[in-house]
Amino acid sequence: MIEKQSLPSAPILIEAIRSLGYSFKTAIADLVDNSISARANRVDIILIPNEYPRLIVFDNGIGMNKKELEEALRYGTKNPLEKRNDSDLGRFGLGMKSASMSQCRKLIVISKKDGKLSGFSWDLDYVITRQGWYLLEYREDEIKKLPNINLFDNVETGTYLLLENFDRVSLSTSNLNNTLTNYMNETIDHLALVYHRYLNDTVEIYVNNNKIEPRDPFLVSNKSTMALREQNIIINNESIRVKPYILPYINKLTQEELKKVGGKEDLRNNQGFYIYRNKRLIIWGTWFRLTRKEELGKLARIMVDIPNSLDYMWNIDIKKSTVNLPDMIKKKLYASIDESILQSKAVHNYRGRKIVKDKDVNYIWERIELRDGCYEYKINRNIQQIKMLEETLDSNQLKALDRVLSIIEERFPTNSLYLDASQGKVNVEKDDDNELIEKLCYEIKENLKYCSIIGMDKKYVLEALLKTEPYCNFENLKEMFKEEEI
Ligand SMILES: Nc1ncnc2c1ncn2[C@@H]1O[C@H](COP(=O)(O)OP(=O)(O)OP(=O)(O)O)[C@@H](O)[C@H]1O
Ligand SMILES: [Mg+2]
Repeated sequence: MIEKQSLPSAPILIEAIRSLGYSFKTAIADLVDNSISARANRVDIILIPNEYPRLIVFDNGIGMNKKELEEALRYGTKNPLEKRNDSDLGRFGLGMKSASMSQCRKLIVISKKDGKLSGFSWDLDYVITRQGWYLLEYREDEIKKLPNINLFDNVETGTYLLLENFDRVSLSTSNLNNTLTNYMNETIDHLALVYHRYLNDTVEIYVNNNKIEPRDPFLVSNKSTMALREQNIIINNESIRVKPYILPYINKLTQEELKKVGGKEDLRNNQGFYIYRNKRLIIWGTWFRLTRKEELGKLARIMVDIPNSLDYMWNIDIKKSTVNLPDMIKKKLYASIDESILQSKAVHNYRGRKIVKDKDVNYIWERIELRDGCYEYKINRNIQQIKMLEETLDSNQLKALDRVLSIIEERFPTNSLYLDASQGKVNVEKDDDNELIEKLCYEIKENLKYCSIIGMDKKYVLEALLKTEPYCNFENLKEMFKEEEI
């Protein structure tokens, strides 16, 4: 056999790579990944609207010297199989080129290191003319003419990307500047979510000088968010951290919080796993077909942290926007799904109960907070029904009654009630249930008859009963007894 070299055609391959499927926002995120990997603590994204709009991504990261920059611009500069630094968000050695050129025809990169600026560009039209992998190097005077290049004045090191000639976006619109502005707004939302754990902490991202605020999809700062038990799954000596959260019920959220979690309509859609690779959100709002998206599961969100060393298992894609879940991890994640969906259902159903925090109401069950932050439920001994018994029972009978009440309290079926309630299977009283109202009405009348026998003031007892559960929950009952001759 004779060996034959088969080189790819530069214009054709670049054009093909442009079609990997980046959207505007995923492309920008791929560039921000590079800035974060380069340990930048500030990234500026600047859209310059014009007849020929341009976009700058500038960071104050470690920068590159001329040799490093020339290498970085090579398509396929790093081996995807190479072990990467723990905090590196890259994998394929392609992102800077593939993401930028998916949106535009010309990418200029200038970088500063050791006090010097170096610059190169990929210009698709030049590549077509030359029919080869030709970069263009920029001289110092050419660099100085670039827009906003004075951003370098305030940093020791950093990198500047200039994207020009948005041919694909132009084809899809008659108003390029408007469309780009809309895309930028979507990008702001996307970056706020995808980097929320960085934005809270290590990096600031500005779009045209406006700082992006983090969008935490778990609303950790809301006191009513429930953090469930954390789990660590060990795979090939690497640890995957799984932390389920249950969002508060919608009416406990401010408008801003509701927006952060995706809005009322999208709450259901956004339940599921939130997969992070080195704290950068990759994919979210999916149960990977392990379970269905149920209405009652909509408050359940599970944070899953995977290190980049396990990239090969998850089949992370070049755009860092999809992952596949290997079966062995699926099985281990299953338990956390069940627990969190049950909790979500519990939070959801709980709001169905009327908790009338009314001083004038006598509750039958009292919720008592213990010192360790747990609660216990006790039967309220001050309800009118018990007071009536106290009038007639002797002290031994009263003690017996107290023992019965204590046993009921101790044997309260917490677990099964919790399970049934979480599945919406507990029969709840309805305000308009005529049969129930008739029954309660009868009970009150019997109690009043009993009052006559033991010589208690009927009017006083009636008033007390109507302020006690379950009677106090039914406006109709109050109306009925208003008219009643006592
Ligand atoms: N903003 C930057 N600051 C410093 N170095 C950078 C910057 N952007 C890119 N680089 C260097 O250029 C290299 C190539 O970047 P590129 O985005 O093309 O690939 P990658 O980040 O290695 O992998 P991926 O294809 O997954 O993004 C990076 O590995 C990094 O060394
Ligand atoms: Mg990259």
